[in-house]
Amino acid sequence: MTTNQDMIGRDEINDLEAILSVTNTDTDAVMHAVRTDLDAIFTWDYERSRPALIKLYEKAKTSQWNVTTDLDWSTPVDQEQVALNNMAREDVKFFGDDMDLTGTPFAKWTENEWVQLAIEGQNWTLSQFMHGEQGALICTARIVETVPWIDAKYYAATQVMDEARHVEVFAKYLDDKLSGHYPINAHLRLLLDDILADNRWDMTYLGMQIMVEGLALAAFGFMHQMTTEPLLKQLLRYVMSDEARHVAFGVLSLQEYYKELSDAEMKDRQEFAFEAAVRMRDRFLQQEVWDRMGVNVKDALTLVLQDESRAMFQNILFSKIVPNCKKLGLLERNDAWLRKRFTELGVIQFEDWVDTGEEYAMLDEVAKDRAAAGA
Ligand SMILES: [Fe+2]
Ligand SMILES: [Fe+2]
Repeated sequence: MTTNQDMIGRDEINDLEAILSVTNTDTDAVMHAVRTDLDAIFTWDYERSRPALIKLYEKAKTSQWNVTTDLDWSTPVDQEQVALNNMAREDVKFFGDDMDLTGTPFAKWTENEWVQLAIEGQNWTLSQFMHGEQGALICTARIVETVPWIDAKYYAATQVMDEARHVEVFAKYLDDKLSGHYPINAHLRLLLDDILADNRWDMTYLGMQIMVEGLALAAFGFMHQMTTEPLLKQLLRYVMSDEARHVAFGVLSLQEYYKELSDAEMKDRQEFAFEAAVRMRDRFLQQEVWDRMGVNVKDALTLVLQDESRAMFQNILFSKIVPNCKKLGLLERNDAWLRKRFTELGVIQFEDWVDTGEEYAMLDEVAKDRAAAGA
């Protein structure tokens, strides 16, 4: 039997010591290489035989937008004011009001430190979005090479362009409007490395389109709904239109492929989904931010993990992943192995939320804007 130790490198999911022992040691490096042995697949079957992917591809071709011209970069951004607005919201506070901070390093914090924490948190979050988007760019370029179906190659090519735009837009926002970059979070990097080190074409989809992009779609949605900053709101709206298609691409492709897989093959996929879910939870602890704020990271995170309102917010991030895994049959196979793991993680309650295979057209804000403008 595969143990937690085999899958995620620790027995206890919430073992803080083990979580914090994962750090990047080469934060000054400009490049990072992941070695893989894989086949680039040509197909001579050009027949368009997958209507759902054809429809998605047509949609992608008409929903392209331009970072340089479709967003108003002259919008002034006052990061401190944005931080204050965010802090006024109950659901995005670092600690809920019911947390007793007496005797902790935070008891002495003034508003200055809380504002600084919110600013660093924003720099960190947008930096991780940017790094994750580069992961998506590389994974999707990989899918163009490895997927054996022509309709999927066509669609994946449009996603490569989408992801280039996403890296571009977050990098520009960080440079022009925010106050600092963070290197990639160690847990996010570990996950991207694991996805890219696997040479089975469908694993790239599962790791990226279902898990990473499923989480991104929920995270962007939350930030879009929460932020009062109009430029960020608009750019997230555009990015989400694309991400919904990307997740749909994963669902529509894997739905077909998983029907052929044996129980043992499905177990590999279930374990991979679980590993990815844990890595993504680990990354949201923002360990680098606490470090930059000069507090003891372990002390800070011990408190964060006790905070129930924060746990609820983190779970919401799985609201797209769980229904999509259900649609793919990943929850029930092998004696409901993944259902049990998701129950332990506290995220199974989302299983009957709408899956993205159905939802993507509703999220296409670019098409709505074009229609409204009569273009
Ligand atoms: Fe993206
Ligand atoms: Fe994407």
